[in-house]
Amino acid sequence: MVRFVSSLLLASLATFASAKTISCSDGSQCPEEFPCCSQYGQCGTGAYCLGGCDPLMSYSLDSCVANPICKSKTYKWDNLDSAALNTKYLGNASKSDWVYSGEPKVKDGNLILTMPKNSVGTLFANNHYVWYGKIKGKVKSSRGQGVVTGFILLSDVKDEIDFEFVGSDLNNVQTNYYFQGVLDYMNGANASVSSNTFEEWHEYEIDWKPEAITWSVDGEVKRTLTKESTWNETGKRYQFPQTPSRMQLSLWPAGQASNAPGTIAWAGGEIDWNSEDIQKQGYYSASFGEITVECYDPPSSAGNGTESYILTNKDALANSFKLSNNDTVLASLGATGLNPSLGASSSSSSSSTSSSGNNSIPENRGGSGNEPGTTGSGSSSGSGSSSGDSSFSQGSSDDSNKTNGAASPNEHAMRGSLFAVLVAIVVLVTL
Ligand SMILES: *[C@@H]1O[C@H](CO)[C@@H](O)[C@H](O)[C@H]1NC(C)=O
Ligand SMILES: *[C@@H]1O[C@H](CO)[C@@H](O)[C@H](O)[C@H]1NC(C)=O
Ligand SMILES: *[C@@H]1O[C@H](CO)[C@@H](O)[C@H](O)[C@H]1NC(C)=O
Ligand SMILES: *[C@@H]1O[C@H](CO)[C@@H](O)[C@H](O)[C@H]1NC(C)=O
Ligand SMILES: *[C@@H]1O[C@H](CO)[C@@H](O)[C@H](O)[C@H]1NC(C)=O
Ligand SMILES: *[C@@H]1O[C@H](CO)[C@@H](O)[C@H](O)[C@H]1NC(C)=O
Ligand SMILES: *[C@@H]1O[C@H](CO)[C@@H](O)[C@H](O)[C@H]1NC(C)=O
Repeated sequence: MVRFVSSLLLASLATFASAKTISCSDGSQCPEEFPCCSQYGQCGTGAYCLGGCDPLMSYSLDSCVANPICKSKTYKWDNLDSAALNTKYLGNASKSDWVYSGEPKVKDGNLILTMPKNSVGTLFANNHYVWYGKIKGKVKSSRGQGVVTGFILLSDVKDEIDFEFVGSDLNNVQTNYYFQGVLDYMNGANASVSSNTFEEWHEYEIDWKPEAITWSVDGEVKRTLTKESTWNETGKRYQFPQTPSRMQLSLWPAGQASNAPGTIAWAGGEIDWNSEDIQKQGYYSASFGEITVECYDPPSSAGNGTESYILTNKDALANSFKLSNNDTVLASLGATGLNPSLGASSSSSSSSTSSSGNNSIPENRGGSGNEPGTTGSGSSSGSGSSSGDSSFSQGSSDDSNKTNGAASPNEHAMRGSLFAVLVAIVVLVTL
């Protein structure tokens, strides 16, 4: 129910953002011409069908492209050669380990996510889905009220496992999770960090196994969530994150003035676009050092494919996903999972044009959508919400139309106050 409401909210936000865009939600799937439902609840082709594409809200379960299989690897940051801009990436994860929007940089062997004044920040997502595994990263969070740094796992059906740093509290990192985007305000918890999260490097780890998730800081377990504890007797299911998920690094303005009051409150207050960081370096920033992904085995019921993961039924539980040999690459931004070779000869680089008038590059709103909370990513916009489009340009922004990368602000918003979100939307629409 909550999810449904949030979907509606998202849908309305999307509608507001772009009158031409067709929206999608739980009860309303995309049409065949624009079959893929993006993380934020909008229908399109091309990049809409890649990471974040929600198969349940798409035209059919095979509209989204298959998810590239997990890859164990340690990432270091001498350059950004393995990262592709979201308007260029067509699904070849062997070529590009990461896809991003916004303005990432590399400095002194670290990855810097930036958020210039009035932008929606940067989203940096790994293209290899993890289906149980351990992710570990050295992080220096951003700082300042309204500024949120994310290190999360997010699935296309909106299961989510988070570390989120709220810039107004540098003594703690928040841990949270979502199951299929269901909002539950009780899932978040603080984990104390031994010293300032902005000034000092600390190592954050999410160990995700079929039976339990642990969140650790500097090798010390701060929280454990067992699958057993998530049983929902009414629904007869475990509301435990259990589906293939992408690792996402993000920096986003949860406290931008146009966001819902609940989101801004969660983020510690309205963002200050004339802060010391903005004045001194021109942007807020979060730094990531070495990041390691260790893949675990998927469920034994998943079969024997070697290339990708696909969803085979609408329950969207662990046993609904299978290993497959399905390809993960599109021939063009006009292609979809239903017709991956469409436009093979046409330039894939034309992406820039595609973003306007042609729904092939979904917008990003600066949040995972579910992220903090969990609703699907869609909501992410919550925080930044759609507002992102109207008044915020992406970091570097060449084109404001491209997506951002933030995590998922939505949930925050939802979590903060469903009412507040509703009110905000009404106001937006009225305006
Ligand atoms: C996977 O590939 C098979 C065979 O080509 C196809 O029938 C099926 O629709 C694909 N599934 C998905 C989810 O893409
Ligand atoms: C993906 O990229 C790799 C490495 O660049 C290349 O060898 C491979 O042919 C590409 N695959 C497709 C389907 O384009
Ligand atoms: C975490 O701690 C901060 C600061 O003490 C507090 O404002 C916030 O409500 C806490 N969050 C949770 C989820 O407990
Ligand atoms: C438990 O499942 C029921 C039925 O699906 C659902 O209505 C309810 O919201 C769920 N409870 C929680 C806490 O998510
Ligand atoms: C993989 O599983 C399928 C279906 O269970 C089976 O038909 C096929 O023979 C298996 N392939 C291998 C290489 O084991
Ligand atoms: C969108 O643009 C791409 C690249 O220019 C093109 O291949 C595709 O056919 C277009 N899609 C639609 C639905 O117009
Ligand atoms: C963004 O999209 C809008 C409407 O779709 C269009 O008018 C505008 O020119 C686009 N901006 C860029 C930078 O492509």
